[in-house]
Order: sequence, then C-alpha cells, then structure tokens
Amino acid sequence: MITREKYIELARTYGTPLFVYDGNLMLERYADLFRFIPHGRLHIHYALKANYNPALLQLLRDAGAGIDAVSPGEVVLALALGFAPEKIIYTANNMTDAEFDRVMKTGVTINIGSLSRLKKCAESHPGSRICLRFNPDVCDGDNEKTMTGGDLTKFGILLDDADTAAKIAAGGNLHIVGLHEHTGSGLQHAGSVLKSMDNLMAIATKERFPELEFLDFGGGFKVPYKDDETPIDYVDMGQKIAAKFDNFCAAYGKELLMRFEPGKFLSAQCGTLIMEVNTIKHNRTRTIAGCNSGFPQLIRPVLYGAYHKIVNLTNPEGPEMVYDVCGNICETGDRFAEQRLLPEIREYDLLAISNAGAYCYSMGSVYNLRPMPAEVVVKDGEVIDFRPALTEEELVKQILAK
Ligand code: LLP
Repeated sequence: MITREKYIELARTYGTPLFVYDGNLMLERYADLFRFIPHGRLHIHYALKANYNPALLQLLRDAGAGIDAVSPGEVVLALALGFAPEKIIYTANNMTDAEFDRVMKTGVTINIGSLSRLKKCAESHPGSRICLRFNPDVCDGDNEKTMTGGDLTKFGILLDDADTAAKIAAGGNLHIVGLHEHTGSGLQHAGSVLKSMDNLMAIATKERFPELEFLDFGGGFKVPYKDDETPIDYVDMGQKIAAKFDNFCAAYGKELLMRFEPGKFLSAQCGTLIMEVNTIKHNRTRTIAGCNSGFPQLIRPVLYGAYHKIVNLTNPEGPEMVYDVCGNICETGDRFAEQRLLPEIREYDLLAISNAGAYCYSMGSVYNLRPMPAEVVVKDGEVIDFRPALTEEELVKQILAK
C-alpha cells in the first residue's frame, strides 16, 4: 500500500498533477481473479483500454496475462511490449477493411461483432481462425453509457442470428475458435455475469460451432468507488462461474478455455491522481477549491457523473467543510466533485483522487493545451517507472509538426 506520506513525497519529487500507480495492487487484483474463479483453464486478457501505461502492462505480461485490444494501435502496443499474438484478442467494432487486414496479418485473433464484417471476412480471408462476439441480451453496468448488452447498443451479433452466423462462417470455411460476450462495465449484479454466460453457452452448441477452443465472457467486474458500496461476493460468484463452465464443457464434450477481460478490476484501484490546490474562492453559496488538473485528465465525473473519493493529503485532520473541487479548464462543468465534505482545504494543499487507474489517463486529452500529467509506477516501495509530462513547448511542437 502506498502511504499518505509516500504520495506527498512523490508529489514533491515529481511535481503535480501526477498519476501514481501501485504495481503491487494491480498484481494483487490479478491474483484475486484466480483465487475467486477456481478453474484451471482460466485465462485473463487485460482490457488495455483501461490503462495503457507500459510499465503496468509489463507487470501483467510477466504475470502471464493476455490482452484485450480494441484498435490497431492497442494491438501494436501490446505486440511491441512482447505479448505473443496468440495472447491478444482484437475486439474491434466498426472497423475498416484496412484495419481488419492489418490486424489479420499480425496473427492476433479477431473478434467479429457483426454479420456484415463476418461476410466480408468469409470473402477476403477464407479459412481463417476467428472469434464471434454476441450481444448477451443482458443490461447491466455502472451507468447507461457503459452497458453493452441489449438492443440499444451497437455491440455484437444478436443471439437470434447464431445460425446465420454459423452458416456465413461455413461458407468461407472460417474456423470459429471462440465465442465472446461483454455485458458492460461496472456490473452491479453477479447475476448479470451468470445470465450472460448462460445466454452465450446456450448458442455454443457442438452442432453449430464444432471447433471452439475458448469462450470469452468479457470484462465488467466492478470495484467499489464509494466507501459504503455493497461489494460483490466474488468468492461466491467465482465458484458459480467455474461450476457453470464445467457443466458446459461436459455437455460440449471438450475442455475449453475460459477467458475474462477485466480492465477496471485490475487497474482502477491501483491509480491515484495527485493535484495541488492553488485557489480557494468563496462564492455566495459555494466554496470552490481550484486545482492544477482538470477534466481532460480525469473525465469520469463529468462524462458519467462518476464518484471518485478525494483525500486531502496535507490536511487530513482539518475541520470538515463542503467544497466544489474544480479544475483549471475554461468550462463550468470542470468539477471533480460537487458539494463534497472534506477536511479543510487550504491553498497549496495536495488532494488525491482515488480509483484513478482505469479510464482516466487513457481517456485523457490535451484540451485547453494542457499536457497530460506525468506518471509514476511504484512497486515494492520503489519507483520503477517515471513518464514525464510533455512540456508546453513539446506539445506545441507536436501541433506544429507537419
Ligand atoms: N471487453 C470489452 C469488449 C470491453 O468493451 C470492455 C470495456 C472491457 C472488456 C473491459 O471492461 P471493464 O472490466 O473495464 O469494465 N470508460 C468507461 C468504461 C468503458 C468500458 C468500455 N469497454 C468508464 O470509465 O467507466
């Protein structure tokens, strides 16, 4: 665990804003999955979109993880870091022909989520090994923008179209080696994971798909963002997952591999964004703590109304007061927290935003031309990786380059 004192020391050493990642915690979460899901053929493919910090990726690679990639860029990064092509699955959506050809050439398994792309694949790459993504028809997630099952989303082939998909694949002599579903991110109910598994397994018959090697049940394992959140009973859920999968394999007549693709579960809790308060302003009804970061660097509160716990690192025992914690961007909505009770915040205090390891840096931008923050990865008490922020001059050089 990284202590409050250590966060302060890192902020003083490397400056703020600063993303700090706890490599040990990420590896602990990875080990947790194997503890929770007692199954010898479990394979974890980390959803790289959650956080693409290379040092964190190397830790997961060395621990044996594979990768869930969703763009050619993510495939290129995973390959460059030494993930073997067979350990990468490319779940593209709405990909171009050029993207498809490019990834096919790498030997990475492509996960096809539409009949249209499947037809094109049968024509352009007959005989290839692919995975099919189905829409599990289960709606769950931590907000509606992150639910991927059901009619209102663009993802996956409908379960009703399983026969049509099998027919198209047979026409191109395609080898369907895997079936996939992803229900959503931040799944609130263990029952949703189990129901989606049932729905996918119901269409995964030997008659329809005789060459299966794995079933991939996506990501979505939630982590608590609030202190009083009811946690999922992952031990119970994991046992049910393992038993369900074994029953399926017995019926299918083959010991398939079981895959999951968590992003948040592995990386959310290991990340913290540290920022410094530079302005305290008392408006008529609000006290505003103005910080040296902003929503382009951590967009989840603005985009999803997500709650992120904030800790006053340098005045933890101060009397509690209510604050709007705001950033340095020219937009009213640039708030990390609204009307939040926190120990008194003074100018130059350091604030830590928790659970900033998933979908924070990776969804970042340089809006207002503020470079993304530096990142440090800590493992066993030592900084094992430091990635400095671009200077304004370096950022402008990129903009001006032709
Ligand atoms: N597999 C597929 C096909 C996915 O689309 C995703 C996430 C995952 C796995 C990993 O899901 P996770 O385990 O991280 O929940 N930006 C949003 C989350 C978007 C998730 C997109 N897909 C957020 O900050 O909540």
